[in-house]
Amino acid sequence: MKYKSFESIKSELKEVSIKAIKDEFGIEINEQTIEYQLPPQNITAHIAIPCFKIAKAVKKSPNIIAQKIANAYEKLNYFEKIDIKGPYLNVSFKNEILFSLLIEQILKEKDKYGEKNIGAGKKILIEYSSPNTNKPLHLGHVRNNVLGMSVSNLFEKMGYQVLRICLFNDRGIHIAKAMVAYKNFSKGETPQSTGKKGDHFVGDYYVLFEQKVKEQPELMEQAREMLRKWEAGDEETVQLWKKLNSWVYEGFWQTYNRMGCKFDVLQYESETYLLGKNLVQEGLKKGVFYRKEDGSVWANLKDIGLDEKVILRSDGTTVYITQDLGTAVDRFNKYHFEKLIYVVASEQNYHFQVLFELLRRLGFKWADKCFHLSYGMVYLPEGKMKSREGKVVDADDLMDEMKNLAKNMMRKSQIQYTEEELDRISEIIGQGAIKYFILKVNPKKDIYFNPEESLSFEGNTGAYIQYAHARICSILRKAGDLIKVKPDYSLLGQTQEVELAKKLLFFSEILKESTYNYNPSILANYLYQLARQFNLFYRENPVIKAEPKQLASARLKLCQAVQTVLKSGLNILTIEAPEKM
Ligand code: ARG
Repeated sequence: MKYKSFESIKSELKEVSIKAIKDEFGIEINEQTIEYQLPPQNITAHIAIPCFKIAKAVKKSPNIIAQKIANAYEKLNYFEKIDIKGPYLNVSFKNEILFSLLIEQILKEKDKYGEKNIGAGKKILIEYSSPNTNKPLHLGHVRNNVLGMSVSNLFEKMGYQVLRICLFNDRGIHIAKAMVAYKNFSKGETPQSTGKKGDHFVGDYYVLFEQKVKEQPELMEQAREMLRKWEAGDEETVQLWKKLNSWVYEGFWQTYNRMGCKFDVLQYESETYLLGKNLVQEGLKKGVFYRKEDGSVWANLKDIGLDEKVILRSDGTTVYITQDLGTAVDRFNKYHFEKLIYVVASEQNYHFQVLFELLRRLGFKWADKCFHLSYGMVYLPEGKMKSREGKVVDADDLMDEMKNLAKNMMRKSQIQYTEEELDRISEIIGQGAIKYFILKVNPKKDIYFNPEESLSFEGNTGAYIQYAHARICSILRKAGDLIKVKPDYSLLGQTQEVELAKKLLFFSEILKESTYNYNPSILANYLYQLARQFNLFYRENPVIKAEPKQLASARLKLCQAVQTVLKSGLNILTIEAPEKM
């Protein structure tokens, strides 16, 4: 028998359900009311359809709804079994349908499998990374970057147009400090002359400032003077500022490229910091802000349990939140976003609460489209790695260290690697280890990063998933032309095969759930489960050696489908899927 495609069967099932409800109760429910879920492990069905939402819509019990839909499904010839368990309708497809349609669809759609077009025509702005330009990226930025990239990729999978924004905080007292230290103590050194990476070079002067100012407090006054001169546009100051920043960017881009960070829009605080000023007048007029005797401007948010907040200093200069107000308005006017996501550490929860509330009070209806994707701390256990300041861990150093650990591990393995492979693959494993270790955790939670554990081939790690992927690639290489044999999908149906198929079936739902919860850990843990299920399957079922060849080929294609989904999922998490490791 020839069937259309799996997606079309899924839509047909929705239509049939809607019609059944309409015929029975005269109420037309909408498509979103019908959900598909992966049944729990102890239920053998392929799909579970919870009937609560539909029940609510037509004011009948979920069990009655399940009965009615089941009756309609009986008339179709897709199912092996239709079962009602309380409020759930559990269905199992005929094996041949399950395997043939699912596998063929995945192999045809490749990395497009699982995509949806919910967001078609809508824009998502996502600001991530947004570093200060006075020191290198650190461990916190690593979490920020992988979250920002993954969530961007997820929204793209749902069909949105995503604009990735980086806002460089390139001006202010922190930069002035590095400038003062450079001016006083550098004797004309440059990154080139010292062989240092630009961002590290400048960062070292920032650290030097903080050390020297303890004995020479007048340096602080110099920094303030430096900032005043910069704001006044003093030629020499601006030149120095440009020079230091250009070194920092050179360093940043190396780190960003290494991590795979991409941005569509680059914003600079030096260009946006005045944006909020006109809003201050507007806020005063609307009574959202008020002026104190010394001329400073404030907002009072005590009525909702927040504090008084300064918006403009008495000398007329703006503060952090002023420019964020202006930047948000600017972004909305330019892009009319569906959502503006700020990926920023939880230390700034209060800041964003205040920001969004002020936008609402200023009358911007879109304020509710702003979302702070807040994430917890990443700790590196004491003694795990040295850091130059003693507190923060540089992203570059961490990545080097991870690569080295991965290389040592590879050297000990039985597989022979060329020097080129050793270098390339250790980078992929090292990056994958840290990225996965971070992404498998709910963003809200703190993380205690353990380099050795993250690189283990056993347990819930990036390396474990990468290895399953490489293993399948190796099976496919060894199989050669076997894959060209016409597969007989009706020969599949072992428990482990069915479990694998069930997982694959739900990739799209997993992507959706991860996206709308801003939580890549849902996808990460799914990939681990899929890799694990693959290993269980492979332990019990020969693939290349299976007889007859039509079965071997069917299993090979199942493996290939798993490989496709593992790769696609890892790539969404910005992790590479090596073909050999
Ligand atoms: N540069 C800031 C920091 O390192 C983060 C900026 C967050 N973005 C924003 N629009 N406020 O803490």
